Amino acid sequence: MIKSCWNAPGPASFTLDGTTHIWLISLEPDNPDELNRYLSATELGRANRFAFDKHRRHFIAAHAQLRIILGNYLDARADSLSFEQNSYGKPFIKNFPLYFNISHSNLLGLIAVNGKHDVGVDIEWNRPNFNELRIADRFFSATETKQLYALPAELQKKAFFNCWSRKEAYIKARGKGLAIPLDQFQVSLRPDEPAEIISTEHDPIAAKEWKLAQIVPDEQYSGAVVVNQKDLILEFWDGKLLTSI
Ligand SMILES: CC(C)(COP(=O)(O)OP(=O)(O)OC[C@H]1O[C@@H](n2cnc3c(N)ncnc32)[C@H](O)[C@@H]1OP(=O)(O)O)[C@@H](O)C(=O)NCCC(=O)NCCS
Repeated sequence: MIKSCWNAPGPASFTLDGTTHIWLISLEPDNPDELNRYLSATELGRANRFAFDKHRRHFIAAHAQLRIILGNYLDARADSLSFEQNSYGKPFIKNFPLYFNISHSNLLGLIAVNGKHDVGVDIEWNRPNFNELRIADRFFSATETKQLYALPAELQKKAFFNCWSRKEAYIKARGKGLAIPLDQFQVSLRPDEPAEIISTEHDPIAAKEWKLAQIVPDEQYSGAVVVNQKDLILEFWDGKLLTSI
């Protein structure tokens, strides 16, 4: 599995021109204490409700970096952005022509940004000691589960997290979360096959209208992005280097 190539950001990395930008962020940045000041009172309230300090720090890191990145696109101060949510919880910024989505898992996060089309992104840490087949039985479609079981044991973990991240990216792009039944659409999962939405039984035309691409954040992580756009052009930016601009 070849890692996505993450480019060092510069002023040009905030021009979209029909492309989708994918930002890789660290949830354990070098400057955690400087990040609180970007968050709203509501976000800080959410952060402070986590039982574990690690989760509080990761939440602050993710949301501060989301604000810094979006603020650069919008030429606005990061702490001035005001987020709203659709009725399923998908955040958006009112009156700004920017589509975005964020995902975080273990130590890393991904942020996807598009200027014209809805987007969903997902990152999944390929956690060890995880019962992939049991989770697949519960959530994947019958075809996906069958394909997973048919693979050699050493490929099953990667295939499972391919499938999970692709299904999550799709439901996040659609903005409806688990209101779309996870067994009512199929994605590819085999490590030797391209990432694609195979079929969308819950909304048959969607398989043609929404495009899926694989993202490889790091060896121990799987990632995927789905965009409501026929031609998907991705650019990858290393958000860990952003504070140095
Ligand atoms: C909330 C959900 C949208 C994603 O949750 P998740 O995968 O645990 O978390 P991620 O880190 O990928 O994404 C969380 C972010 O998505 C965004 N989000 C929330 N609701 C959303 C929605 N309806 N649509 C798109 N994005 C949404 C938020 O920005 C959220 O960030 P925050 O929690 O820091 O505010 C939802 O799909 C979910 O609960 N999924 C779990 C489903 C599951 O059990 N899958 C099993 C294997 S397929």
